[in-house]
Amino acid sequence: MTNINKYFIANLKMYGNKKYVKSIKKVIDFKKKKKYTKVKLIYCPPYTLLSDFVNYTKNSSIEVGAQNCHQDEFSGSYTGSISPNMIKSLGAKYIIIGHSENRISGDNNSIINKKIISALSQKLNVIFCIGETFKEKKNNKTKSVLKKQIISGLKKVKKINKVIFAYEPVWCIGTGKIPKTKEIRDQFIFIKKLIKNRFNSKNPIIVYGGSVDPKNIKSLNQISEIKGFLVGGASRKPNKFIDIIKKSII
Ligand code: PGA
Repeated sequence: MTNINKYFIANLKMYGNKKYVKSIKKVIDFKKKKKYTKVKLIYCPPYTLLSDFVNYTKNSSIEVGAQNCHQDEFSGSYTGSISPNMIKSLGAKYIIIGHSENRISGDNNSIINKKIISALSQKLNVIFCIGETFKEKKNNKTKSVLKKQIISGLKKVKKINKVIFAYEPVWCIGTGKIPKTKEIRDQFIFIKKLIKNRFNSKNPIIVYGGSVDPKNIKSLNQISEIKGFLVGGASRKPNKFIDIIKKSII
């Protein structure tokens, strides 16, 4: 994961059917430009489209990831679940773990920790989401929440070179709101320091997520600590996604 100047991760959530896949041709062509060689672009479609995305992007530098996984690395009697091994077998390279939309539906720090360990055992890269709710922010709990999420989520994890941290304040996801520049910088510095101290990692990769769009991307890019973006809604429209990348790489 070195030699990359910025990460752009598309979280398609529960959007997109078979027909959607071809709409990313624009993005594939765009990514071929020399200017964007050092950009890492990762698409995380629903499970149902993982194979299609892997096939469709195979002659490009775009990589593919899943949006979640089961904590069991291989298989088991878990109706409706998908394991890291299954995801890997499709050619995906990443898994988003700990997204707030999954934390709400039951993924606590301990389950997230198990999922991360399973994904890393499969040699997959993890996009590890952390972030405070609005209530936690109001109660001045942001830092303690982030610390707990990081430390519990990475319990017994020794090497974090395959982990991308995604700081996503929960109150910014899908709301059109983003924190003040100072607040984001402050949290990034805090997260970075914590990871450096705990994991002896020189340069952890931390991206920002939550209502990233072509309108706020310029101000977000002024925060040098941000190494990239996890984009939900705005990544579904290829033109918008391209616009975000264009405005970030000048
Ligand atoms: P959003 O979603 O960009 O639509 O706010 C981000 C995310 O959920 O990762």
